[in-house]
Formats: sequence, structure tokens, C-alpha cells
Amino acid sequence: MTEMLHLDRVCVGWPGHAPVLRDISLTLHHGERVGLVGPNGAGKSSLFLSIAGVLAPQAGTIRLNGQALRTGQFLPDVALVFQQAEDQLFCPTLAEDVAFGARNMGLEGADLDARVAQALAACGLSALADRPVHQLSGGEKRRACIAGALVMRPALMLLDEPSAALDLRNRRNLIALLGRTNQALVVASHDLELVLELCPRVIVIDQGRICADGPVRQVLGNAGLMAAHGQEVPHSLTPHAPAAHVHLPNPAAGL
Ligand SMILES: Nc1ncnc2c1ncn2[C@@H]1O[C@H](COP(=O)(O)OP(=O)(O)OP(=O)(O)O)[C@@H](O)[C@H]1O
Ligand SMILES: [Mg+2]
Repeated sequence: MTEMLHLDRVCVGWPGHAPVLRDISLTLHHGERVGLVGPNGAGKSSLFLSIAGVLAPQAGTIRLNGQALRTGQFLPDVALVFQQAEDQLFCPTLAEDVAFGARNMGLEGADLDARVAQALAACGLSALADRPVHQLSGGEKRRACIAGALVMRPALMLLDEPSAALDLRNRRNLIALLGRTNQALVVASHDLELVLELCPRVIVIDQGRICADGPVRQVLGNAGLMAAHGQEVPHSLTPHAPAAHVHLPNPAAGL
């Protein structure tokens, strides 16, 4: 895999506030899938905003495909699915909203329509194309945000809590959809089972730094590490006793 994204001693923070993350160094390769885990307020969303070129790093450099990233520039290779759908959706209808990123990339006419239709279909939203975005349910808004990222066919998708608000079937569809892509993904999530299924590698951030970066089963299966950072080992990595062997009462035998 070739290198796609490189962060070198990056300091992430909000103007007028102490840094949220300090000295963050990491490399992401084309097609790699990485989970980003950490407690509330650890800086997952802030880090995404810096990688997406929205929030300027306070120090350090971010390189995308070898080029230093300039905050504010349009990055067709990077699509951010916002944690709060309301921060992302703003067009009058769902179809127009999903079209926005692709239109920015210069697509128009039949090509644009086909892309939008495909992204809506992938997220199970075709029937709602003309619905005003503020009339979508919470889970529909979340899927609309994902469609708005997919439509760009970005080389890197940053997904901030993608399964939040999804019912179980739509969560399962999302895992299948993301599992089929060959794009690089960084998935910030408290849904550790989703991270476990999708991402061979996981990064844990807490208290301003990277606390772990490694194979997902090894990191999420480390009970001490998980507890130290406000997490729990996912249920499917927890050893289970075999189900008890129970004899049910047999009415025929008068028991
Ligand atoms: N616009 C802002 N201005 C100032 N501080 C902010 C702003 N947005 C977030 N913060 C602060 O930055 C820190 C990191 O927040 P961030 O949203 O990145 O955390 P997170 O890891 O995504 O948390 P969660 O799991 O709750 O989504 C928090 O202390 C938060 O209060
Ligand atoms: Mg967040």
C-alpha cells in the first residue's frame, strides 16, 4: 500500500483554547481502514476537521499524497461525514444536497444525475430524493451525509460516528457498504463492534495524545488499556462461558 496521508507532530486545537491534541504523528496508506477511538471530548472530530482542511493545525504538518495541506482549500480526495448531520446538510432537497460535492468537482448533467442516483441508492434513500433535508428522520439524515460523501468517490473518507442514529438493519447495510469500498477510511466511533468488523487497525486517543495504534483485536482486546481510556473490550472479544446445558421439564413424564 502506498502512503496517502501523513501527519507529522500535528497539534490540533481551537483558536483561543489550549490544544486538544499534541504531537500527533501517523501515516495512512491508500485503501487502509482505521478506527479512531477515544472518550467524549478526546479530539476525534477536531482531528477530522484538521485532516479535512477545515481547522488549521496549531503546529506540525499534514501531507496528503505528498503535498502539504492548506486549510480552506477544496480537497476532492477527502470527504468528511460530519458527526452532526445538521452541520453538513444545507440544500433545499436531499438530491441537491448529495449533488453538492460532485458538482464542486465539476460534474454536471447526466453524469452528475447518475452519480447522485447511485449514492442515494447505496444508502437506501432513492425514494426520498426530493424530500427537504429538514424533513428527514435522524437516521435518514445520517445516511444522507454518507451519500453526500460517497458521491465524490473520494480516496479518503473520514466518517464521524457513522452508525449513530441508525437502526440495526441500516447499521448492517452501512458496514456492508463500507466493507465493499476500496477507499481509505478513518472511522471515529463509540460503536466498537463496528470498528472491529471494518478496521484492521485502530488508533486510541485520549488526554491530548495517541495512546495506542495497532491491530484492532490486539488494541480493543486489551482490557487494561480500554479501561484506562474510558472504553470497554467489545462483547465479541470477551471470552464467554459456554451456554449452560439445561434439561427442560418434560410434561409427558409428569415433571
Ligand atoms: N468549536 C469549538 N470551539 C472550542 N472548543 C471546541 C469546539 N469544538 C469542540 N471543542 C472542544 O474540543 C475538544 C475536543 O472535541 P471533539 O468534538 O473533537 O471531541 P470528540 O472526541 O469528537 O468527542 P465526542 O466523542 O463527544 O464526539 C472538547 O474539549 C470540545 O469541548
Ligand atoms: Mg466527535
